[in-house]
Amino acid sequence: MIAWVGTVIDAVYVVAVIAFILGLKAMSSPETARRGILYAGVAMLVAVAVTFATGGLGNFALIALGVFIGGGAGWYWARVVKMTDMPQMVAIFNGMGGGAAAAIAAVELLTSLSAGATTGLSLAGAIIGSISIAGSFIAFSKLQGWLPGRPIVLPARQVVNFAVLLVGVGFGGAAVVVAQAFYLLPFFVLLLVYGILLTLPIGGADMPVVISLFNALTGVAVALDGFALVNGPLGDAGYAMVIAGTLVGAAGSLLTLLMARAMNRSLGNVLFGAFGSGPDTGGPVTGSLKPIDVADAAVLMEYSGQVVIAPGYGMAVAQAQQKVKELADALEARGVTVKFAIHPVAGRMPGHMNVLLAEAGVSYDKLFDRDEINPELAHTDVALVIGANDVVNPAARRTGSALQGMPILDVDQAKNVIVIKRGQGKGFAGIENDLFYKDNCRMLYGDAQHVVGELVQAVKKA
Ligand code: TAP
Repeated sequence: MIAWVGTVIDAVYVVAVIAFILGLKAMSSPETARRGILYAGVAMLVAVAVTFATGGLGNFALIALGVFIGGGAGWYWARVVKMTDMPQMVAIFNGMGGGAAAAIAAVELLTSLSAGATTGLSLAGAIIGSISIAGSFIAFSKLQGWLPGRPIVLPARQVVNFAVLLVGVGFGGAAVVVAQAFYLLPFFVLLLVYGILLTLPIGGADMPVVISLFNALTGVAVALDGFALVNGPLGDAGYAMVIAGTLVGAAGSLLTLLMARAMNRSLGNVLFGAFGSGPDTGGPVTGSLKPIDVADAAVLMEYSGQVVIAPGYGMAVAQAQQKVKELADALEARGVTVKFAIHPVAGRMPGHMNVLLAEAGVSYDKLFDRDEINPELAHTDVALVIGANDVVNPAARRTGSALQGMPILDVDQAKNVIVIKRGQGKGFAGIENDLFYKDNCRMLYGDAQHVVGELVQAVKKA
């Protein structure tokens, strides 16, 4: 290849990497997140396009066919997916990344099986990528309802899982030591089995944390493959994989830890604790459930100075965000101050509530995070809880509760609390909610979209 062409290619990779970093930065705020996705998408397009100019590539038609099928399927699915199905889409896209990393590592291993640093990197990439694709597929199946969402706990699972991992890695080591490609077959099969066994005991609602972890692992696998490829035909293009993979690995790890922390769980507990398979540890609840009807709830809010809306998973399931925006507008038209209390793990994916409310046109300056809104709740006339449960459960303040220590929205401090939910359904943690039984709390039963629609009509008519 002419020398200056190589320099131009390297320069384009650097530009792509800068765009990746700017994209990630922009994704950290809801206002700039769309721009961030665009930067990262363009960066990826440029990085893929310039790789075609790299020397040593063959089979262009096959590569183009792969890009067409993969790109087309991704484009189509991302356009038609419902907002509530987004977690499983991310899971399967991410799994494909892990699978691609494992496939690249497999090719590298089949090409050269001599003991050395490059082979070691390929083996590590293969291990992590295989676990990631198998685990992501189980995560997808649980969220899609193909498998039960509850933890599937097999007997002696920790011992069996460890043994499968150990024997699998052992076959990989044996393949290198005796330079026998045959051992790679049980190596890959056992690691795929390990990815499945690792994910089966994890409850459906923990899947976002797991998906984020697999995402981070996929990044690491890609980075390891990149290192291995630097010594292969792609040369410097490998560095682009190293940098992109490292960015994904770092961002995914941070997200995983932040989500686990916001749920007051350790990553070990999420991965190995089979959370949700034990008994209800909600503790004693006193008081009774007191229903309220739409007309009374509307009057209570109309004559309020401030209403704080705390949305949760139920709002997402009911797709009630548009009606919620209409309700906020109707109350504001009557001079009521309306604010939204956003808990970091409300819903089932990071930023779930922000995305839904933004989609409905609620302006960002009305969204307040837990630390901002909690001090205000004691001076709030009505806290309106819409399909939220765990994130407003005062049981989190009680020792021994499954939610113990989880920082919550202190809606129970408001003068009045109205909770919209369909019935006696529990939240993700599966425990009773003390809030619903408090003297200042009223239950407004029904599907969130339907009930909030009725509230809008009632407020408008008054
Ligand atoms: P949840 O605790 O899951 O409670 C949701 C409530 O919504 C349920 O009690 C349910 O009661 C109600 N609901 C369901 N469908 C409804 C509908 N159509 N209309 C009205 N209500 C409906 O929700 P949350 O408070 O948002 O908490 C989220 C939980 O998920 C937390 O425990 C969190 O740790 C966990 N989690 C979150 C994430 C992220 S990243 N967000 C990741 C993993 C886990 P009914 O059945 O009685 O209606």
